[in-house]
Amino acid sequence: MTIPINNEVSFDEFDELNSPRPDVSDFERVTDRAMSRRGVLSGGIAFGAAAFVMGTTALTSKPAEAAGSCLGFTQVPANSLDTVSVPEGYSWDVVSMWGDPLWSNSVAFDQTTRGTAASQKLSVGDNNDGMAIFQDGDSIILASNNEYVNRSVVYGNRESKLPENADDVRKGMAGHGVTVAEIKSVDGKWSIVKDSSYNRRITANTPMEITGPARGHNLMRTSADQKGMIALGTWNNCGNGRTPWGTYLTCEENFNGYFSSSDSNYQPSAELKRYGVGNKDWGYAWATVDERFDISKNPTEPNRFGYIVEVNPMDAKSTPKKRTALGRFKHENAELVVAANGQIIVYMGDDERGEFLYKFVSDGKFVEGGDNSKLLDEGILYVAKFADDMKGQWIPLTPETTGMSSQAEISVLTRQAASKVGATTMDRPEWVTSHPTKAEVYVALTNNKNRGKKPNRGGDATPVGGPNPRAANNYGQILRWRPEKGDHTADGFEWDLFVTAGNPTVHNDAYAGSANVNAENMFNSPDGLAFDSTGLLWIQTDGKYSNKGDFSGMGNNQMLVGDPESGEIRRFMVGPKECEVTGITWSPDRKTLFVGIQHPGDKGGSHYPQGGNSVPRSTIIGITRNDGKVMR
Ligand code: FEO
Ligand code: CA
Ligand code: CA
Repeated sequence: MTIPINNEVSFDEFDELNSPRPDVSDFERVTDRAMSRRGVLSGGIAFGAAAFVMGTTALTSKPAEAAGSCLGFTQVPANSLDTVSVPEGYSWDVVSMWGDPLWSNSVAFDQTTRGTAASQKLSVGDNNDGMAIFQDGDSIILASNNEYVNRSVVYGNRESKLPENADDVRKGMAGHGVTVAEIKSVDGKWSIVKDSSYNRRITANTPMEITGPARGHNLMRTSADQKGMIALGTWNNCGNGRTPWGTYLTCEENFNGYFSSSDSNYQPSAELKRYGVGNKDWGYAWATVDERFDISKNPTEPNRFGYIVEVNPMDAKSTPKKRTALGRFKHENAELVVAANGQIIVYMGDDERGEFLYKFVSDGKFVEGGDNSKLLDEGILYVAKFADDMKGQWIPLTPETTGMSSQAEISVLTRQAASKVGATTMDRPEWVTSHPTKAEVYVALTNNKNRGKKPNRGGDATPVGGPNPRAANNYGQILRWRPEKGDHTADGFEWDLFVTAGNPTVHNDAYAGSANVNAENMFNSPDGLAFDSTGLLWIQTDGKYSNKGDFSGMGNNQMLVGDPESGEIRRFMVGPKECEVTGITWSPDRKTLFVGIQHPGDKGGSHYPQGGNSVPRSTIIGITRNDGKVMR
């Protein structure tokens, strides 16, 4: 088998090729049984368009057609332009780009070489993703994830479009991680404050403390770190979170794609395979400069990745902390909510086909100005189980419920723990966001071509139904739930679907989407999600931008706004060619909305943002209203 090592395949597609899913001989039978059972329970409506209409209004009091629109802008038409489009009355500008210098001794971005290891360590990382704004006195600090590097772009100066020497490999390692930068608005234009004491690059080699149940456990020990307490680096940092005590959470997603084996006959353990760790990496060649990425020599090293990492953006010298109590999986983001009684809840998705939705509930309570440093180390991790009657339960993952030996083992082998309790396999849970004023939480289920066709990586069936109502789901949906009695610590909840994306110009069945999707606002693959302060839902997409076939009329990836009360959805922004729109945060005065434009031109078709023949660069933009009012 040839493993494609270019940007032609996504992380998840590569994982399927490199580490095929198990065969489940009776999978079809399991699926059939689940479908017929649902037919009995729900009278079959879960499969018809009626189910989706019901889904858009079940948790709301106002039907869409009766509500006046809260969305005060004119919808942007879908397009395939190589620029950002915003509604009339709004403007956008570049805040920072991949390779922008953070210090005066950094080298300016070189369009020919696209940088070196040395220059990349001192400049903004690639592929900005989740981000958050912090304020310290008069200083405004932007922390942003650098999920990965686009090999065809960062190595576009090489014939192979891959790293060709050790410096190339190290450039890639330095392009990952997190960028913390002070930013300032001068005459309405935001830019990085060079040499600010807040500026920092966290990369694949930055020392981090392992905290929580797995700290020091055998599974975390390696030849280089025999105590299992210090891991080097963070990478594939996807979505983010923030805490009320002023720290940034960065979430490790496809951490597996960086490990490989020098021994091609090496047989990775079932535990590694569950996470997609195999003998081939994703083309980054990190094992060629550091043996810890060679799993035949260091089989426990991958156990130290796949966590949520807490970073103090106010102190550039602080040691980031890997919070193992929040579980190990392909973390998307971390939505933190303070429950009415002060306990901390963290909602989290595991973005892989047929993986799960989680929440963590802290033992301790948040105290403003108090010592909150242990809140994310001690608590209970739960996984969601959905029933077809629009109800669901959070199942605790403990040695008692899973039969596993310790909380430490559950913290490292979290997917296996969730499989043991029969959690619901989901359509790739991406960002979770919680309504600002009521106990209602939303998650983007981006898509799942395997729904109803293949089990997840652990062999769990992925039957059609419940919150995952369509087989071979290539459009995605947004699920929401309300905790019982409005209490985020409660075990029970009610759920429905806010929207099922689809294309009503191509399909006239469930693939046309729910009632709040039409030819003007249609989109696919919701991913980034965030509520603004007024309770409007901002939706970012990471989907197919071919504008053809099933996706015709949808144009480039985009950002939309949804009104949870009426169900209305309107397109606010369209990104440039071949980008994904991901990452969202507001300035402290709420007059600027920061949005991430990730990997424009990842197939070679964009010169965003600088135009001409320039190298396409992942970019953080600021969007403002021309009348200077707040962006919400
Ligand atoms: Fe990095 Fe699931 O997106
Ligand atoms: Ca994402
Ligand atoms: Ca995605």
